[in-house]
Amino acid sequence: MARVGLIFGGRSAEHAVSVSSARTVRRALAAAGHEVIPLGIAPDGCWVAPDVGRQLLDDPSRDCLEPAGEAVAPTLRHLLAARLEVAFPIVHGTWGEDGSLQGLLEMLDLPYAGAGVAASAVAMDKLLAKQILAAHGIPVVPYAVVTAADRTETVHPGLRDLGLPLFVKPCTGGSSVGVSRVAAWDDLAGAVAHGLRFDDRVLVERGIDGRELECAVLGDERLEASAVGEIVPGKEFYDYADKYLDDRARLIAPAELDGALAERLQQLAVAAFAAIGGHGMARVDFLLAGDGEELYVNEINTLPGFTDISMYPRLWELSGLPLPRLADRLVEIARRRHRRRARLDRGIKEFIEEIAR
Ligand SMILES: Nc1ncnc2c1ncn2[C@@H]1O[C@H](COP(=O)(O)OP(=O)(O)O)[C@@H](O)[C@H]1O
Ligand SMILES: [Mg+2]
Repeated sequence: MARVGLIFGGRSAEHAVSVSSARTVRRALAAAGHEVIPLGIAPDGCWVAPDVGRQLLDDPSRDCLEPAGEAVAPTLRHLLAARLEVAFPIVHGTWGEDGSLQGLLEMLDLPYAGAGVAASAVAMDKLLAKQILAAHGIPVVPYAVVTAADRTETVHPGLRDLGLPLFVKPCTGGSSVGVSRVAAWDDLAGAVAHGLRFDDRVLVERGIDGRELECAVLGDERLEASAVGEIVPGKEFYDYADKYLDDRARLIAPAELDGALAERLQQLAVAAFAAIGGHGMARVDFLLAGDGEELYVNEINTLPGFTDISMYPRLWELSGLPLPRLADRLVEIARRRHRRRARLDRGIKEFIEEIAR
């Protein structure tokens, strides 16, 4: 049993999803016997008092904190005053999932649930993630990079080789913001310009006509994979409206999949998260073409959705790990890692003292 700070909300477009995830995680942590201190981050980046966060989480008719309208730095007092033993960040997207919040918690010497600074930052950057995965021999969708500087009206020859359709997406981001499917060369420049609204680098990828599969990973030095799930988009691809507005996409768990293929996915999910130096949790998303000849890791999400219907908790539930135990495992991993880090840090200091003697 620990005093756990549930950090939620935040400045990204996924604020409301985070609120919904936080409700689920709060229930799970409480069921596992932890004391939960809600620490909300308003859309303007200000931290709010635990009571304000609690009121929002208690009121199902609201899904967003009010902007606090203060300078951000002084509002950190709410985090400092909470006297947490463990932090549980459940903030999706930029400033929550990208290593920056994790860096703040490192500086405060607080154990926290989920991946560390480097793995969070790499997973959030789709180009860096692809480069690292490829270096580990993990299959990624063929791609090219276009930056704001080299954008032209003509189609870059490297892009021609990728064929049609293409997918264009900003290197950082989530919730499919800025992602377009391009079926005609004439539409490529517009899609690139749209992607460049959200980042100064966009990825142009070969479009994979097939299935979207997801696998949950959990662990510390030893990572484990869950059963495999499948997303069936309600439209041409799983875009923002399909994720949050239309309610037509289907989440199937477990996916109907040949046993050997499911096992390959689980191995790749663990290998992918390990390749970026991950621990804690991640949902690894795949694209599968044909009957399995072509299987690619599409992306790694280090702060996956945690709502009642989200794939990450559902896959663990299916794999025999109910939500309270899942949340508790993440708290336990956070504490164990923090102790190990402290031990390693003492080792460095002792070593320096030895050689200085
Ligand atoms: N190369 C691709 N081939 C086919 N579909 C893709 C490809 N890349 C992305 N998609 C579709 O776009 C959606 C969003 O892209 P994704 O890379 O997962 O970005 P996000 O981080 O915004 O979720 C995917 O869930 C999938 O439906
Ligand atoms: Mg995705």
